[in-house]
Amino acid sequence: MTTPFHLTNKTIFITGASSGIGRQIAISCSAMGAKVIISGRDEERLNETLALLQGEGHSQFTSDLTDEKQRNDLIDLIPGIDGFVHSAGIVLPVPVKFIAEKHLRSVMGINFESAVLTVARLLKNKKLNEKASLVFFSSVSVNHPYSGGSLYTASKGAIEAYSKNLALEIYQKKMRSNVIVPAMVRTPLYEETINQGMYRNVEEYESKYPLGIGRPEDVANAAVYLLSDASCWVTGTNLLLDGGFTIGK
Ligand SMILES: NC(=O)c1ccc[n+]([C@@H]2O[C@H](COP(=O)([O-])OP(=O)(O)OC[C@H]3O[C@@H](n4cnc5c(N)ncnc54)[C@H](OP(=O)(O)O)[C@@H]3O)[C@@H](O)[C@H]2O)c1
Repeated sequence: MTTPFHLTNKTIFITGASSGIGRQIAISCSAMGAKVIISGRDEERLNETLALLQGEGHSQFTSDLTDEKQRNDLIDLIPGIDGFVHSAGIVLPVPVKFIAEKHLRSVMGINFESAVLTVARLLKNKKLNEKASLVFFSSVSVNHPYSGGSLYTASKGAIEAYSKNLALEIYQKKMRSNVIVPAMVRTPLYEETINQGMYRNVEEYESKYPLGIGRPEDVANAAVYLLSDASCWVTGTNLLLDGGFTIGK
């Protein structure tokens, strides 16, 4: 039986691949037959990701995506791609009263602006192959606010709106754009969220997940689906992955 649930002959460009969800997506994509192009700022951690990939022909680029020159140089260097995953992102909790321009620039810069500007250049430079699939990350917190989360959740709300408009502008070449909306997933970003004291009682918070806190593998499986031809009829959607959190246990 032939199956569309694979990534053979596809080249997938993944940002934020030096850690957490992005790293696991790179590993899972390689296991499903893709050649992956991984990027992040930390070269050592990118090397670690590269060492975990299956198959051959992968490449890695160290780049700060909020720096115009570094971002453009990277995009100009990569070959045509069949998939783009923007997993790079930060959390920076700031109470609304203390938000300054630097906070706004930091959060929007990597979570939203770098995605928008990367896609614009990929399109202009004709780096997206026909039927390319683009995957972005939002967060369940867009609809479940937390104190200090206004910038983070706004950046994620912006990416949700952007992705739907993007889907409308690229469908003629059968390209697709979708957003994965995870609740808490155990990654360095999650540990940082906990360490910053965003949840007073961590055990109580975690008990609200009927299926437990997510693993990077759970998210990577969804990304593989969205990048594969199995999802060729899916565009402009937000895919919620929350272990049952929003059922309201
Ligand atoms: N973990 C969760 O619970 C959760 C829940 C909902 C949504 N999400 C979203 O899922 C995505 C991945 O999160 P994660 O948990 O995997 O986070 P993570 O482990 O902290 O990884 C974040 C990645 O972003 C990269 N990055 C940050 N700033 C960058 C910059 N200026 N230029 C280039 N790369 C940059 C980091 O690269 P370097 O370290 O090399 O700089 C790192 O690879 C994020 O968009 C996040 O908002 C996560």
